[in-house]
Amino acid sequence: MHHPEKTAISRKEPSAPLIDLLQTDLIQGDVLDYGGGKGIDFLFLEFIKKKIKPHYWDPNFMQTKVGKNSLFVPFETKFEDFYKNKKFDTVLVTYVLNVLPPEERKQVIDHVLSILKPNGVAIFTVRGPKDKISGKSHEDGVITKKGTFQRLFSAEQLKTQIPNSEIVLDTGRYVTVKYRRV
Ligand SMILES: C[S@@+](CC[C@H](N)C(=O)[O-])C[C@H]1O[C@@H](n2cnc3c(N)ncnc32)[C@H](O)[C@@H]1O
Repeated sequence: MHHPEKTAISRKEPSAPLIDLLQTDLIQGDVLDYGGGKGIDFLFLEFIKKKIKPHYWDPNFMQTKVGKNSLFVPFETKFEDFYKNKKFDTVLVTYVLNVLPPEERKQVIDHVLSILKPNGVAIFTVRGPKDKISGKSHEDGVITKKGTFQRLFSAEQLKTQIPNSEIVLDTGRYVTVKYRRV
């Protein structure tokens, strides 16, 4: 077991790639934060709204409300329990693929592409080669001291994981590609 739930960090601000992406016109309509972890990017999208409708899902966390405040508590969830047959204009998959070994990674990519509306866009961000990780070699990445899987990707390597994708951001520390459903 490679404990992907342990990779979710409690950030105090939205992720850098989300801030960059908000400068583009890629985030539109029904927007799903897929594998949204502790929910900061989702809450930020809810806050700014800008003609979008944000949604959240993570297999290991669930949003709950205490008064007006949202908490994201560790809880196993199934996508279908929240979004049976729903399709999205934009699916954000931020720092998820880099915590998954190849087989699970492929399942996530296939699932994300299957929940896009026609002309919908999936946006995959992962940790890039300038980020540092160490650990014991495992499949195409490493198992870290925390017992979690991590794999860094160059933009070109990420592109090869998602057929017909294009590079959107490449800072070295994180890389982002988009896939548009035709
Ligand atoms: C490094 S965290 C990133 C969380 C959030 N997107 C962020 O940027 O803060 C990776 C997240 O992927 C989630 N995850 C693990 N396996 C997944 C899967 N098969 N499908 C979707 N999300 C998954 C984990 O629960 C965890 O919250």
